[in-house]
Amino acid sequence: MGKVSILMGSQSDWEVMQHAAKELKKFGIEHEARVISAHRAPDLLIQYIKDAESRGVGCFIAGAGAAAHLAGVVASKTILPVLGVPMPSKYLQGMDSLLSTVQMPKGIPVATFAIGEAGAANAALFAVSMFAANNPAISEKLSEFRKSQAEAIAATRLPEV
Ligand code: RP5
Repeated sequence: MGKVSILMGSQSDWEVMQHAAKELKKFGIEHEARVISAHRAPDLLIQYIKDAESRGVGCFIAGAGAAAHLAGVVASKTILPVLGVPMPSKYLQGMDSLLSTVQMPKGIPVATFAIGEAGAANAALFAVSMFAANNPAISEKLSEFRKSQAEAIAATRLPEV
């Protein structure tokens, strides 16, 4: 499936989007991260998407905030899967980002995740699941991750009050 491209609309999104990169790193999945705004640098974005397939990109994780167009524009220019992550915007706490990412009109899908860090991490884990379908080693790692997560929950003890 190649590598994962992590795109974001602004450097200010990296604090959240780094959680996608961290998850992919844990699973040994090759990725690249770029800041390319759909509205501040549209020509650069179109060029980047055109080149991405030839460089082995297999899916995009796109994080943007406020009137968030990035994931939708990426999806309009590629048939590769696009996973959208709404940023926790300053004035509307990410509700604007969520709605503008998730409410894609019929025909151009964006798989949209939760607002913020959980969404960034889950988008990466979703990409891991896609990779796992054709890669037994990654599939094994993902099963191990789920198992250790469940064990940690089972071992949780609350403090005395
Ligand atoms: C969006 O505008 C970005 O994705 C970011 O979440 C938001 C604010 O960007 P900055 O003004 O911090 O660069 O395009």
